[in-house]
Amino acid sequence: MKRSEINQAIDGGIAFCKRMNFHLPPFAYWSLAEWTTKGHEYDEIRDNMLGWDATDFGLGKFDEMGGLLFTIRNGNHKSDKYVKPYCEKLLLIGQDQVTPYHFHFAKMEDIINRGGGELMIQVYNADGDEQLADTPVQVNTDGHIYTVEAGAIIRLTPGESITLPPYLYHKFWAESEAVLCGEVSMVNDDTVDNRFLEEVGRYPDIEDDEPARYLLCHEYPPALE
Ligand SMILES: [Fe+2]
Repeated sequence: MKRSEINQAIDGGIAFCKRMNFHLPPFAYWSLAEWTTKGHEYDEIRDNMLGWDATDFGLGKFDEMGGLLFTIRNGNHKSDKYVKPYCEKLLLIGQDQVTPYHFHFAKMEDIINRGGGELMIQVYNADGDEQLADTPVQVNTDGHIYTVEAGAIIRLTPGESITLPPYLYHKFWAESEAVLCGEVSMVNDDTVDNRFLEEVGRYPDIEDDEPARYLLCHEYPPALE
């Protein structure tokens, strides 16, 4: 991805949160210059990769296949320094912008439409070969448990949510307008817990065609000693 595209996406994401009256924590706005003044008291943000995360899944068409996320809080299974067993993220989903089919091996997550357009989620069980199964899918939307056919599309209007257990393939996009989507889950570890149906790049190569206005969660400089 180009840095200009990431800067623009985050500027747009911040404006969208303001419009939706969702307040981000202070580190959402820190530049590289500000980050270089921060010591070990902010290690939790660095170690647990909180903050902005933009990806085009290595496909070069962010508006169609991509996502802008902001991790508000997260634990870390790799360090006993962190005991938090949960994670909260925002997913800022553009109209018709798709996050492709994937499931999580360990993480159970609730995806919540916090406002904007309608969130469409297509679901399949994973079979033993980690492909799409044709078996019926049990769905839980806000405590309503029911069964749908493989590949059914669940429509979530603002305020509605769905619970996604491990090994449930999901693909989602926003319909009619952008959606401010929340995610509440068990600890998130993007380095090992995602199984994308089609192989994709999770963290994009970045072409710095202009200076970064914000840092992504994997770009923080080391703590000031
Ligand atoms: Fe997911």
